[in-house]
Amino acid sequence: MTRILVAGAAGEVGRAVVSSLLDRAAEVRVLVHSTPVDGGERVRGDLGDPGSIARALIDCEAACFITPHHADEERLGRNFVDACEAARLRRLVYVSAYHPLSRSRVVQRLLDTLIGFVGPHYRAKLRVERRVRGTTLSPVALCPTNFYQNDELALPEILAGLYPNPMGDKAVSRVDTRDIGDAAARALLDDVEEGAYPVVGPQPWTSDQTAAAWSEALGTPVSYAGDDIERWRRSVGARMPAAKATDFAKTYRVIQRFGIPASARAIARTTALLGRPPRDFKSYVREQVERLQHARAS
Ligand SMILES: NC(=O)c1ccc[n+]([C@@H]2O[C@H](COP(=O)([O-])OP(=O)(O)OC[C@H]3O[C@@H](n4cnc5c(N)ncnc54)[C@H](OP(=O)(O)O)[C@@H]3O)[C@@H](O)[C@H]2O)c1
Repeated sequence: MTRILVAGAAGEVGRAVVSSLLDRAAEVRVLVHSTPVDGGERVRGDLGDPGSIARALIDCEAACFITPHHADEERLGRNFVDACEAARLRRLVYVSAYHPLSRSRVVQRLLDTLIGFVGPHYRAKLRVERRVRGTTLSPVALCPTNFYQNDELALPEILAGLYPNPMGDKAVSRVDTRDIGDAAARALLDDVEEGAYPVVGPQPWTSDQTAAAWSEALGTPVSYAGDDIERWRRSVGARMPAAKATDFAKTYRVIQRFGIPASARAIARTTALLGRPPRDFKSYVREQVERLQHARAS
């Protein structure tokens, strides 16, 4: 059986990847940094310490690298890819963030330059992605849009009637992190062609529509709190690590300006990769409300 190392396993995406792999009875090893991780064989390591990555990769045939919110993201990513090359893995899967994809290397370079200009905090992700795709490790890059699960941190505000995430009024194609986990499991366990894949939900959402979806599921009014990103940052406070909040604030600025409208082709490629349509936002919201009602009742 293939042993798979998952780095970044304690994060939102990493937990979903580990869960999808374990559901498929895969042999999973997780790189544990500072946050405990449930499931899989645990090996301590630090992406800043190449020796610890090399030790974690012993006897692994494949790896999934979920790039962290980190000031030194590019160096940590390069350390991981170098170690994977030295370990001669059969497959390397990289999970970063959504961006337009082209089959042409020249066009991709131009697109990446443009994205780095619009959102400088995406540059490290794009550079690591280029490094990953330049390996001979049958690389697969997964590029997910904004997560449905970002709303879970905002549940206290949503239940009080305000949708606080400053997403603006442009269309944003969001995605369920469980679909990212399933897509990674497909790329790690099945015969998926190497390359870069978008991972997107089935339809775009504006902030007002998002608030309305929560309102409908809860049966109480929920309205959008507005576009003030600094207000959001103050309200989220210590509930989110500072580096992550900084990245989120930058991303909200980009989203408010441009939205993230996934193309029909991106939705079709996600569907083909998953082997089924991606999960829809309203079902996710209903599940969350049922979970809350169940927790209140018990
Ligand atoms: N939120 C969104 O809507 C969205 C959308 C698209 C893409 N993304 C991107 O998706 C990626 C994953 O997101 P996420 O929320 O799951 O990430 P995250 O919360 O930043 O989690 C990253 C993981 O990396 C680990 N890590 C950090 N520094 C490490 C180090 N030096 N050595 C070893 N492990 C280290 C963390 O473990 P410890 O906690 O133990 O340090 C954690 O498990 C991010 O790059 C994010 O930008 C996010």
